[in-house]
Amino acid sequence: MSTLQSFRGQRICLVGSTSGIARATARELAARGAILHLGARDLEEARRDAVDLEVRSGMPVSVGCFQALDLASHMAFLAEARQRMGGLDGVLVTFGILGDQERARRDFSYARQIMDLNFLAPASVLSHAAAMLEDQGTGGILVALGSVAGDRGRFSNYTYGSAKAGLHAYLQGLRARLAATGIRVLTVKPGPVDTPMTFGMGFPGGRLMTRPEVVARGIVRAMERGNEVVYVPCFWSLIMGVLKAIPEALFKRMKL
Ligand SMILES: NC(=O)c1ccc[n+]([C@@H]2O[C@H](COP(=O)([O-])OP(=O)(O)OC[C@H]3O[C@@H](n4cnc5c(N)ncnc54)[C@H](OP(=O)(O)O)[C@@H]3O)[C@@H](O)[C@H]2O)c1
Repeated sequence: MSTLQSFRGQRICLVGSTSGIARATARELAARGAILHLGARDLEEARRDAVDLEVRSGMPVSVGCFQALDLASHMAFLAEARQRMGGLDGVLVTFGILGDQERARRDFSYARQIMDLNFLAPASVLSHAAAMLEDQGTGGILVALGSVAGDRGRFSNYTYGSAKAGLHAYLQGLRARLAATGIRVLTVKPGPVDTPMTFGMGFPGGRLMTRPEVVARGIVRAMERGNEVVYVPCFWSLIMGVLKAIPEALFKRMKL
């Protein structure tokens, strides 16, 4: 099958579709023939994106309201996505917030919101989506955006990082549980990406900031290849390998 046909007719739900990375990924998937359902809390934005994607790809794109912190609504959101697309082959969990670590340090209810949005809510969506795909018995794919920040707890973003680390472990366990079912689980770990999440922020190694289009192509390539865990761009695997190898006694003095 040619790359341009690789998702033809596959019914894929993007959860958090107004994110910079999700928008670029939706364009890649639509261009490859996928049928999409866009889940966002801002339905007007999602509708505008859907019209744009339909015009570009000629494939149907539907929208649904998704509220990440309303865990009780997740099952109904996915059921509607499946009904609107006439089935479900894949779910991409793309929402999240970076948050302000300084504020999180002083205000645990805010820290909890960061953790809920980056761990609890994605785990809830993935758990329902996995059950739905298992019930169908037709295989499928689950994809979630983790982060290099989840690979090592850092001074500057450990609230966000710890939630992503939890998500990585959850995905790893889910992958093991679903191994015999034909449902694949992909963990994507981007480095810093130029999206609204990072707008106006300075990063150590800010020159390594990537465009969302690059991450989107990395995600779609990993889906096509059947990868399980990918860093995007791939050089982050080397950087994180080095960072993880630094002894704790030294790392804590680096104040990264
Ligand atoms: N950008 C980076 O440097 C980077 C690096 C590594 C990993 N990631 C991960 O990649 C994913 C996408 O990041 P991004 O940079 O593309 O993000 P982004 O452009 O800032 O978008 C964040 C998304 O999360 C949604 N969201 C936030 N709170 C929500 C809530 N309570 N209910 C429903 N949706 C909610 C936003 O909806 P609204 O549009 O309505 O606000 C938006 O769609 C995230 O999981 C992020 O952690 C990003």
